[in-house]
Amino acid sequence: MAGSSVEELRESALAALAAATDLEGIQAARTAWLGRKGPIVDALRSIKDVAPEERRSLGLALNQLRDEIEATLGERERRLEEEAMSLRLAQERLDVTLPGRPRAVGGPHPLRMAEAELVHVLREIGFSVAQGPEVESEHLNFEALNIPADHPAREMQDTFYLSDLPGLLLRTHTSPVQVRAMREHAPNPLRVICPGRVYRRDDDVTHSPVFHQIEGLAVGEGIGMHHLKATLYEFARRLFGADVRLRLRPSYFPFTEPSAELDVGCPFCGGKGCRVCKGTGFIEVLGSGMVHPHVLREGGYDPARCTGFAFGLGIERTAMLHYGIDDVRLLYTSDLRFLSQFQGSEA
Ligand code: DAH
Repeated sequence: MAGSSVEELRESALAALAAATDLEGIQAARTAWLGRKGPIVDALRSIKDVAPEERRSLGLALNQLRDEIEATLGERERRLEEEAMSLRLAQERLDVTLPGRPRAVGGPHPLRMAEAELVHVLREIGFSVAQGPEVESEHLNFEALNIPADHPAREMQDTFYLSDLPGLLLRTHTSPVQVRAMREHAPNPLRVICPGRVYRRDDDVTHSPVFHQIEGLAVGEGIGMHHLKATLYEFARRLFGADVRLRLRPSYFPFTEPSAELDVGCPFCGGKGCRVCKGTGFIEVLGSGMVHPHVLREGGYDPARCTGFAFGLGIERTAMLHYGIDDVRLLYTSDLRFLSQFQGSEA
Protein backbone atom coordinates (compact mmCIF):
# COMPACT_ATOMS: atom_id res chain seq x y z
CA MET A 1 0.00 0.00 0.00
CA ALA A 2 1.40 3.38 -0.98
CA GLY A 3 1.56 6.55 1.15
CA SER A 4 -1.20 8.13 -0.95
CA SER A 5 -3.53 5.28 -0.05
CA VAL A 6 -2.83 5.88 3.63
CA GLU A 7 -3.79 9.50 3.05
CA GLU A 8 -7.04 8.40 1.35
CA LEU A 9 -7.74 6.05 4.23
CA ARG A 10 -7.15 8.93 6.64
CA GLU A 11 -9.58 11.22 4.81
CA SER A 12 -12.40 8.73 4.69
CA ALA A 13 -11.74 7.84 8.37
CA LEU A 14 -11.94 11.50 9.44
CA ALA A 15 -15.12 12.00 7.38
CA ALA A 16 -16.70 8.98 9.06
CA LEU A 17 -15.62 10.16 12.49
CA ALA A 18 -17.09 13.60 11.89
CA ALA A 19 -20.47 11.92 11.38
CA ALA A 20 -20.26 10.19 14.80
CA THR A 21 -21.97 12.77 17.00
CA ASP A 22 -23.09 10.71 19.96
CA LEU A 23 -21.48 8.17 22.29
CA GLU A 24 -23.04 5.25 20.46
CA GLY A 25 -21.86 6.53 17.09
CA ILE A 26 -18.35 6.97 18.46
CA GLN A 27 -18.29 3.42 19.80
CA ALA A 28 -19.53 2.13 16.41
CA ALA A 29 -16.84 4.15 14.58
CA ARG A 30 -14.18 2.78 16.92
CA THR A 31 -15.20 -0.81 16.18
CA ALA A 32 -15.48 -0.12 12.42
CA TRP A 33 -12.09 1.63 12.09
CA LEU A 34 -9.89 0.16 14.78
CA GLY A 35 -11.49 -3.30 15.26
CA ARG A 36 -9.87 -6.56 14.26
CA LYS A 37 -11.85 -6.55 11.01
CA GLY A 38 -11.30 -2.85 10.32
CA PRO A 39 -9.32 -1.28 7.45
CA ILE A 40 -6.31 -0.30 9.60
CA VAL A 41 -5.71 -3.85 10.84
CA ASP A 42 -6.30 -5.02 7.28
CA ALA A 43 -3.72 -2.60 5.96
CA LEU A 44 -1.20 -3.55 8.67
CA ARG A 45 -1.62 -7.20 7.71
CA SER A 46 -0.92 -6.41 4.06
CA ILE A 47 2.42 -4.72 4.82
CA LYS A 48 4.13 -8.00 4.08
CA ASP A 49 2.92 -7.67 0.45
CA VAL A 50 4.70 -4.37 -0.28
CA ALA A 51 8.30 -3.86 -1.27
CA PRO A 52 10.64 -4.39 1.72
CA GLU A 53 12.03 -0.85 1.58
CA GLU A 54 8.53 0.63 1.88
CA ARG A 55 7.40 -1.54 4.75
CA ARG A 56 8.85 0.56 7.52
CA SER A 57 7.40 3.91 6.45
CA LEU A 58 4.03 2.34 5.65
CA GLY A 59 3.89 0.71 9.08
CA LEU A 60 4.80 4.01 10.68
CA ALA A 61 2.11 5.89 8.72
CA LEU A 62 -0.55 3.30 9.57
CA ASN A 63 0.33 3.35 13.29
CA GLN A 64 0.18 7.13 13.26
CA LEU A 65 -3.21 7.00 11.57
CA ARG A 66 -4.44 4.52 14.18
CA ASP A 67 -3.25 6.80 17.01
CA GLU A 68 -4.85 9.81 15.35
CA ILE A 69 -8.22 8.06 15.00
CA GLU A 70 -8.06 6.88 18.60
CA ALA A 71 -7.16 10.38 19.83
CA THR A 72 -9.95 12.00 17.80
CA LEU A 73 -12.54 9.54 19.11
CA GLY A 74 -11.28 9.92 22.68
CA GLU A 75 -11.41 13.68 22.46
CA ARG A 76 -14.91 13.65 20.96
CA GLU A 77 -16.06 11.24 23.66
CA ARG A 78 -14.71 13.42 26.47
CA ARG A 79 -16.46 16.49 25.04
CA LEU A 80 -19.80 14.67 24.82
CA GLU A 81 -19.49 13.46 28.40
CA GLU A 82 -18.68 16.97 29.58
CA GLU A 83 -21.70 18.36 27.73
CA ALA A 84 -23.97 15.69 29.22
CA MET A 85 -22.64 16.47 32.69
CA SER A 86 -23.17 20.23 32.41
CA LEU A 87 -26.67 19.61 31.07
CA ARG A 88 -27.43 17.39 34.07
CA LEU A 89 -25.96 19.90 36.49
CA ALA A 90 -28.15 22.63 35.02
CA GLN A 91 -31.28 20.47 35.09
CA GLU A 92 -30.78 19.12 38.57
CA ARG A 93 -29.77 22.37 40.13
CA LEU A 94 -30.87 22.58 43.76
CA ASP A 95 -31.76 25.91 45.29
CA VAL A 96 -30.73 25.41 48.89
CA THR A 97 -32.11 28.83 49.77
CA LEU A 98 -35.74 27.80 49.01
CA PRO A 99 -37.91 27.75 52.15
CA GLY A 100 -38.82 24.23 53.37
CA ARG A 101 -42.29 22.77 52.99
CA PRO A 102 -44.00 22.79 56.38
CA ARG A 103 -45.11 19.36 57.63
CA ALA A 104 -48.66 18.95 58.86
CA VAL A 105 -48.54 18.42 62.61
CA GLY A 106 -51.17 16.25 64.30
CA GLY A 107 -52.64 16.81 67.70
CA PRO A 108 -54.94 15.35 70.30
CA HIS A 109 -58.66 14.98 69.60
CA PRO A 110 -60.89 17.46 71.48
CA LEU A 111 -62.48 14.53 73.28
CA ARG A 112 -59.07 13.43 74.57
CA MET A 113 -58.22 17.00 75.48
CA ALA A 114 -61.45 17.31 77.45
CA GLU A 115 -60.81 14.00 79.20
CA ALA A 116 -57.25 15.03 80.09
CA GLU A 117 -58.46 18.32 81.50
CA LEU A 118 -61.26 16.71 83.53
CA VAL A 119 -58.84 14.18 84.97
CA HIS A 120 -56.31 16.94 85.68
CA VAL A 121 -58.85 19.03 87.61
CA LEU A 122 -60.18 16.05 89.56
CA ARG A 123 -56.68 14.95 90.50
CA GLU A 124 -55.95 18.44 91.77
CA ILE A 125 -59.03 18.16 93.97
CA GLY A 126 -57.66 14.90 95.43
CA PHE A 127 -58.94 11.97 93.36
CA SER A 128 -56.69 9.25 92.01
CA VAL A 129 -57.39 7.37 88.78
CA ALA A 130 -58.79 3.83 88.75
CA GLN A 131 -59.50 1.58 85.79
CA GLY A 132 -62.06 -1.10 85.05
CA PRO A 133 -62.70 -3.44 82.13
CA GLU A 134 -64.98 -2.53 79.23
CA VAL A 135 -66.29 -6.11 79.20
CA GLU A 136 -68.03 -6.20 82.56
CA SER A 137 -70.09 -8.68 84.53
CA GLU A 138 -73.82 -8.19 84.53
CA HIS A 139 -73.65 -8.31 88.31
CA LEU A 140 -71.25 -5.36 88.70
CA ASN A 141 -72.87 -3.33 85.91
CA PHE A 142 -76.39 -3.74 87.34
CA GLU A 143 -77.18 -5.80 90.50
CA ALA A 144 -74.29 -4.53 92.61
CA LEU A 145 -75.44 -1.01 91.75
CA ASN A 146 -78.93 -1.75 92.99
CA ILE A 147 -80.39 -2.26 89.53
CA PRO A 148 -82.08 -5.70 89.72
CA ALA A 149 -83.18 -7.56 86.61
CA ASP A 150 -86.73 -6.21 86.75
CA HIS A 151 -85.69 -2.63 87.48
CA PRO A 152 -87.00 -0.11 84.94
CA ALA A 153 -83.58 1.59 84.88
CA ARG A 154 -82.30 -1.38 82.89
CA GLU A 155 -84.54 -0.28 80.08
CA MET A 156 -82.92 3.16 80.09
CA GLN A 157 -79.62 1.49 79.21
CA ASP A 158 -80.10 -0.75 76.19
CA THR A 159 -77.24 -3.10 76.54
CA PHE A 160 -74.82 -5.04 74.35
CA TYR A 161 -74.73 -8.55 75.81
CA LEU A 162 -71.98 -10.91 74.71
CA SER A 163 -73.97 -13.79 73.26
CA ASP A 164 -71.18 -16.38 73.64
CA LEU A 165 -70.35 -15.36 77.19
CA PRO A 166 -73.42 -15.43 79.44
CA GLY A 167 -73.30 -12.98 82.34
CA LEU A 168 -70.94 -10.60 80.51
CA LEU A 169 -71.73 -7.39 78.67
CA LEU A 170 -70.15 -4.20 77.39
CA ARG A 171 -70.44 -1.86 80.37
CA THR A 172 -73.22 0.67 79.95
CA HIS A 173 -71.58 3.14 82.35
CA THR A 174 -68.37 3.54 84.38
CA SER A 175 -70.28 3.04 87.65
CA PRO A 176 -69.25 -0.65 88.07
CA VAL A 177 -65.73 0.65 88.75
CA GLN A 178 -67.18 2.07 91.99
CA VAL A 179 -67.69 -1.45 93.28
CA ARG A 180 -64.35 -2.71 91.96
CA ALA A 181 -62.50 0.17 93.63
CA MET A 182 -64.38 -0.32 96.93
CA ARG A 183 -63.55 -4.03 96.98
CA GLU A 184 -59.89 -3.14 96.55
CA HIS A 185 -59.79 -0.50 99.28
CA ALA A 186 -62.34 -1.58 101.92
CA PRO A 187 -62.37 -0.79 104.79
CA ASN A 188 -60.07 2.19 104.12
CA PRO A 189 -61.31 5.57 102.89
CA LEU A 190 -61.00 6.15 99.15
CA ARG A 191 -61.29 8.85 96.53
CA VAL A 192 -61.11 7.66 92.93
CA ILE A 193 -62.18 8.63 89.45
CA CYS A 194 -62.46 6.32 86.49
CA PRO A 195 -62.43 7.70 82.94
CA GLY A 196 -63.38 5.27 80.19
CA ARG A 197 -65.39 4.06 77.25
CA VAL A 198 -68.97 2.86 77.67
CA TYR A 199 -71.46 1.24 75.30
CA ARG A 200 -75.19 1.44 74.75
CA ARG A 201 -77.36 0.05 72.06
CA ASP A 202 -78.57 3.31 70.66
CA ASP A 203 -77.47 5.10 67.57
CA ASP A 204 -79.24 8.22 66.39
CA VAL A 205 -78.43 11.87 65.75
CA THR A 206 -77.76 12.60 69.42
CA HIS A 207 -76.56 9.19 70.61
CA SER A 208 -73.47 7.19 69.75
CA PRO A 209 -73.26 3.48 70.68
CA VAL A 210 -69.79 4.21 72.10
CA PHE A 211 -69.19 7.18 74.33
CA HIS A 212 -67.09 8.23 77.30
CA GLN A 213 -67.73 8.85 80.96
CA ILE A 214 -65.87 9.69 84.13
CA GLU A 215 -67.01 8.16 87.36
CA GLY A 216 -66.13 9.66 90.74
CA LEU A 217 -66.39 8.07 94.17
CA ALA A 218 -65.44 9.09 97.71
CA VAL A 219 -66.06 6.74 100.65
CA GLY A 220 -65.13 7.20 104.30
CA GLU A 221 -66.51 8.00 107.73
CA GLY A 222 -68.64 11.11 108.10
CA ILE A 223 -68.99 11.96 104.41
CA GLY A 224 -72.16 13.95 103.76
CA MET A 225 -74.10 15.69 101.05
CA HIS A 226 -72.25 18.94 101.84
CA HIS A 227 -69.00 17.25 100.77
CA LEU A 228 -70.64 16.22 97.52
CA LYS A 229 -71.90 19.72 96.79
CA ALA A 230 -68.63 21.44 97.73
CA THR A 231 -66.61 19.00 95.61
CA LEU A 232 -68.85 19.33 92.55
CA TYR A 233 -68.99 23.12 92.78
CA GLU A 234 -65.23 23.37 93.16
CA PHE A 235 -64.80 21.03 90.20
CA ALA A 236 -67.23 22.96 88.00
CA ARG A 237 -65.65 26.33 88.88
CA ARG A 238 -62.17 25.10 88.09
CA LEU A 239 -63.43 23.72 84.78
CA PHE A 240 -65.84 26.41 83.57
CA GLY A 241 -64.59 29.47 85.45
CA ALA A 242 -65.22 30.95 88.92
CA ASP A 243 -68.35 32.84 87.86
CA VAL A 244 -70.18 29.91 86.23
CA ARG A 245 -73.81 29.59 87.29
CA LEU A 246 -74.46 26.26 89.05
CA ARG A 247 -77.48 24.43 90.32
CA LEU A 248 -77.85 21.12 92.17
CA ARG A 249 -81.24 19.64 91.31
CA PRO A 250 -82.90 16.60 92.97
CA SER A 251 -82.94 13.52 90.78
CA TYR A 252 -83.09 9.74 90.92
CA PHE A 253 -80.48 7.02 90.40
CA PRO A 254 -80.83 3.50 91.79
CA PHE A 255 -77.28 3.48 93.19
CA THR A 256 -77.50 6.78 95.10
CA GLU A 257 -79.90 8.03 97.77
CA PRO A 258 -80.52 10.91 97.76
CA SER A 259 -79.55 11.75 94.17
CA ALA A 260 -78.91 15.05 92.46
CA GLU A 261 -77.94 16.40 89.07
CA LEU A 262 -75.54 19.27 88.56
CA ASP A 263 -76.55 21.89 85.99
CA VAL A 264 -74.36 24.69 84.63
CA GLY A 265 -75.57 27.91 83.05
CA CYS A 266 -75.94 27.40 79.30
CA PRO A 267 -72.79 28.78 77.62
CA PHE A 268 -74.55 29.06 74.27
CA CYS A 269 -77.17 31.64 75.29
CA GLY A 270 -75.75 32.90 78.59
CA GLY A 271 -78.88 31.67 80.40
CA LYS A 272 -81.51 33.38 78.24
CA GLY A 273 -82.76 30.08 76.88
CA CYS A 274 -81.94 28.54 73.48
CA ARG A 275 -82.24 25.41 71.38
CA VAL A 276 -79.31 23.71 73.13
CA CYS A 277 -80.64 24.20 76.69
CA LYS A 278 -84.22 23.75 75.47
CA GLY A 279 -85.15 27.17 76.83
CA THR A 280 -84.17 26.41 80.43
CA GLY A 281 -80.93 28.44 80.59
CA PHE A 282 -79.18 25.46 82.19
CA ILE A 283 -77.50 22.32 80.91
CA GLU A 284 -77.18 19.13 82.90
CA VAL A 285 -73.53 18.02 83.30
CA LEU A 286 -73.57 15.12 85.70
CA GLY A 287 -75.52 12.76 87.93
CA SER A 288 -74.55 12.28 91.54
CA GLY A 289 -75.69 11.36 95.02
CA MET A 290 -74.91 9.67 98.30
CA VAL A 291 -73.84 6.06 97.69
CA HIS A 292 -76.75 3.68 98.35
CA PRO A 293 -76.20 1.32 101.36
CA HIS A 294 -76.70 -1.65 99.04
CA VAL A 295 -73.75 -0.49 96.91
CA LEU A 296 -71.55 0.14 99.97
CA ARG A 297 -72.24 -3.40 101.18
CA GLU A 298 -71.41 -4.80 97.73
CA GLY A 299 -68.10 -2.95 97.96
CA GLY A 300 -67.31 -4.40 101.38
CA TYR A 301 -68.10 -1.34 103.55
CA ASP A 302 -70.42 -1.25 106.55
CA PRO A 303 -73.08 1.41 105.77
CA ALA A 304 -73.53 1.96 109.50
CA ARG A 305 -69.93 3.24 109.74
CA CYS A 306 -69.08 4.57 106.27
CA THR A 307 -70.84 6.79 103.82
CA GLY A 308 -69.83 8.13 100.46
CA PHE A 309 -70.76 10.17 97.47
CA ALA A 310 -70.52 9.37 93.76
CA PHE A 311 -70.89 11.20 90.51
CA GLY A 312 -70.79 10.36 86.84
CA LEU A 313 -70.43 12.60 83.83
CA GLY A 314 -70.33 12.23 80.08
CA ILE A 315 -67.09 13.44 78.53
CA GLU A 316 -68.71 14.27 75.17
CA ARG A 317 -71.27 16.48 76.81
CA THR A 318 -68.67 18.21 78.95
CA ALA A 319 -66.37 18.72 75.93
CA MET A 320 -69.29 20.29 74.04
CA LEU A 321 -70.00 22.69 76.88
CA HIS A 322 -66.36 23.46 77.42
CA TYR A 323 -65.51 24.18 73.79
CA GLY A 324 -68.92 25.46 72.69
CA ILE A 325 -69.60 22.56 70.27
CA ASP A 326 -73.32 22.30 69.47
CA ASP A 327 -73.45 18.95 67.65
CA VAL A 328 -72.10 15.74 69.20
CA ARG A 329 -71.58 14.16 65.77
CA LEU A 330 -68.75 16.60 65.08
CA LEU A 331 -66.73 14.70 67.66
CA TYR A 332 -66.96 11.46 65.68
CA THR A 333 -66.74 12.47 62.02
CA SER A 334 -62.97 13.16 61.82
CA ASP A 335 -63.49 16.34 59.81
CA LEU A 336 -60.14 18.12 59.93
CA ARG A 337 -61.77 21.51 59.34
CA PHE A 338 -63.46 20.99 62.70
CA LEU A 339 -60.67 19.18 64.54
CA SER A 340 -57.85 21.55 63.56
CA GLN A 341 -59.61 24.40 65.37
CA PHE A 342 -58.57 22.84 68.66
CA GLN A 343 -54.88 22.58 67.96
CA GLY A 344 -52.74 24.62 70.27
CA SER A 345 -55.51 25.05 72.82
CA GLU A 346 -54.35 22.28 75.14
CA ALA A 347 -54.41 23.18 78.79
N1 DAH B 1 -74.11 5.88 85.75
C1 DAH B 1 -74.97 7.00 85.43
C2 DAH B 1 -75.28 6.99 83.95
O1 DAH B 1 -74.57 6.38 83.20
C3 DAH B 1 -74.32 8.29 85.80
C4 DAH B 1 -74.23 8.47 87.28
C5 DAH B 1 -75.26 9.04 87.96
C6 DAH B 1 -73.10 8.03 87.96
C7 DAH B 1 -75.18 9.22 89.35
C8 DAH B 1 -73.02 8.20 89.34
C9 DAH B 1 -74.08 8.80 90.01
O2 DAH B 1 -71.96 7.80 90.04
O3 DAH B 1 -73.98 8.96 91.37
O4 DAH B 1 -76.20 7.62 83.53
